[in-house]
Amino acid sequence: MILLANSEAWPGFVETVDRLNAGEHGLGAMVAGISKVEHEVSVRSVGLGGWPNMLGEMEFDAGVMDGTTRDVGSVGALRDILPAAALAQAVMQRLPHVMLTGDGARRFAQEIGFPLENTLFDDSKRVWWARLEKELTPEQLAAFPYIPLAPLSRTITDPERVRDTTVFLCRDGSTGIHAATSTSGWAWKYPGRLGDSPIPGAGFYADSRYGAAACTHTGEMTMRCGTARTVVLAMRLGHSLGDAVKLAVDELSELSTGFLGGVVIHAIDAQENHKVVSFRCGEGIEYWLWQTGMPGPERRLAETL
Ligand code: GLY
Repeated sequence: MILLANSEAWPGFVETVDRLNAGEHGLGAMVAGISKVEHEVSVRSVGLGGWPNMLGEMEFDAGVMDGTTRDVGSVGALRDILPAAALAQAVMQRLPHVMLTGDGARRFAQEIGFPLENTLFDDSKRVWWARLEKELTPEQLAAFPYIPLAPLSRTITDPERVRDTTVFLCRDGSTGIHAATSTSGWAWKYPGRLGDSPIPGAGFYADSRYGAAACTHTGEMTMRCGTARTVVLAMRLGHSLGDAVKLAVDELSELSTGFLGGVVIHAIDAQENHKVVSFRCGEGIEYWLWQTGMPGPERRLAETL
């Protein structure tokens, strides 16, 4: 077995390891772990601790993929409901659809018993409003939110503030390879913006025969390249894990517009090798790893380009 997750995964990583060791299906084990991440307010990019959109509303994205069946579930721009990854799993298990967004996702959550929650943490609200006060004129503040938001999308949205989605990849005791993600997305994003975390093939992909991949940071880049799918497809075509990730890195590097600086690719293969590569030079990006035979999880440093 192997479990790979990004640095923000710490609140739920051991929970997932314990469940994998107990023989649980990898997807359920990871969703249980991610639920703990989503409820940890000190993780400032996922769930309750995340940052709101421009209007001060929390909007969550999450996705899951069962690499054995290639079933997928995801939710996007989900308001007032957590845990988002568990809801994505419910979409996969209970609906003939892959993705629900916005009001439809919230309605489905309530139908199946998820309570509505206040998901805007006081400190996030304070920081959001302070940012608006800094950026908007007194006239704009007085009229807020009835002002055009589009001009703000290039001034107050902040790709630097959000470093990580949480992403979990595993190969479980039944040799199933699975992927799960969750995020609150870019700080101060335009309402309704989806990142790559709910987009299968971009933010996550899994195929039990070959491996899995998931990405963190600026989803706008990995959506343009279908990065997670590129990695797994390359392995299907016979590339090693290292070469598959390199191909995805090369594709992303060809993009001459957008913010590539923070993107991190996490990947595992069916031989339980792993690779984590970061585009951020000069800053140590960490990840969590556990494999059968290791006494406990290890925090390691990603490769940089
Ligand atoms: N990778 C997370 C996002 O772009 O929202």
